[in-house]
Amino acid sequence: MNRSEALYEEAKGLLVGGVNSPVRAMKPYPFFAARGEGSRLYDVDGKSYIDYCLAYGPLILGHANPKVLARVREQLERGTVYGAPTELEVGLARKVVATLPSAEMVRFVNTGTEATMGAIRLARGCTKRKKIIKFEGAFHGAHDYVLVKAGSGATTHGEPDSAGVPEETVRNTVLLPFNDPEALEEAVTEEVAAVIMEPVIGNAGCILPKEDYLEQVREVTEEKGTMLIFDEVITGYRLGLGGAQGYYGVKPDMTTLGKILGGGLPIGAIAARREVMERFSPLGPVYQAGTFNGNPLSMAAGLAAIGELEDGRVYEKANGLARTLREGLQEMAQDLGFKTRTYGVASMFQIYFAQGEVSDYRTALRADRELFLRFQKGLLARGVFLPPSQYECNFLSSAHGQGEIDSTLEAAEEVLRGLRR
Ligand SMILES: Cc1ncc(COP(=O)(O)O)c(C=O)c1O
Repeated sequence: MNRSEALYEEAKGLLVGGVNSPVRAMKPYPFFAARGEGSRLYDVDGKSYIDYCLAYGPLILGHANPKVLARVREQLERGTVYGAPTELEVGLARKVVATLPSAEMVRFVNTGTEATMGAIRLARGCTKRKKIIKFEGAFHGAHDYVLVKAGSGATTHGEPDSAGVPEETVRNTVLLPFNDPEALEEAVTEEVAAVIMEPVIGNAGCILPKEDYLEQVREVTEEKGTMLIFDEVITGYRLGLGGAQGYYGVKPDMTTLGKILGGGLPIGAIAARREVMERFSPLGPVYQAGTFNGNPLSMAAGLAAIGELEDGRVYEKANGLARTLREGLQEMAQDLGFKTRTYGVASMFQIYFAQGEVSDYRTALRADRELFLRFQKGLLARGVFLPPSQYECNFLSSAHGQGEIDSTLEAAEEVLRGLRR
């Protein structure tokens, strides 16, 4: 028995399923991580993996980026949490406001989950309406308002609707198919407080918005006085400094951020224009609070990370590598007789083992998830780590290089040849 397996045996008795977040579960057991460096993750048995999971999105600079570590180390010496505001919070807020087209003010929290929960409460508080709209297969964190037909681990483990969520809580959560303007037009009424959406769905693989779809959502919501919330926990600082809203040129009323913004430390943020944000406590009636909100370590790491992203080279490199990899994979799979569809933007992508177009949750569910898992497992055995689900997204970082792409394609070819029936 290797060390990962032994740890898993013990972990199963102490942590539910041996893990602290369902997406980390893997059969027969997950590898236990010991260390990360650049594009590589090392497990407790000393095996190394080229990492395309990248902690589910935050690590656009790769593991243990030296600039981020230096900034965090410097901050560590000064204390980890104060219960008083800091210059670091002002600095990171300044960066968010400068880079995110729709942001005039920010509230920092600690996770994407808290960010979407706060944003929805704020939208309800501002509009005095109850209903919200979310899209099938999108994931906005593990809180009650949005745990219906949720993607990511909820779909992977066959529980897109969670037990323990009172029916009354989600009675006001309306579900819609993504990329369907007619359904949207019908559903958005003057009773709807907010439409919350991942502009690119990164929790059911990688589903891109059709041309003009985001503009249509913007138009319909504006017409009805409904707030449009872009959940950019994945796409924020992934699709560029301006996130998906910068990339596609569509401004939401509110944005939720997380992942990359924290430079690899826990973070979440809600950003919007001033009159909306000022409805939050202590100025307004919508309550939101947290002991670790804006904590100095996450702020320091975030400042270092955004600083690194500002000159654009990170995006150029990671996006170029992502394109080479996804085109290479798609072409290879086709040549070997597999029916696959590969979708991606900037440095995120997913390969679906699916015959037809994937443009929403329903079409994503048609993919052969078992075949994907066999592909993922084969790659893992060859030292390439993709998240273990057809319904997650793969990421590239600026720490990856052409060498890793070549090795990955080589490994993929071996695996696919072995899977050919
Ligand atoms: C789009 C989106 N929103 C919200 C969340 C929740 O973020 P967190 O896991 O930091 O609570 C996630 C997590 O993967 C996400 O992908």
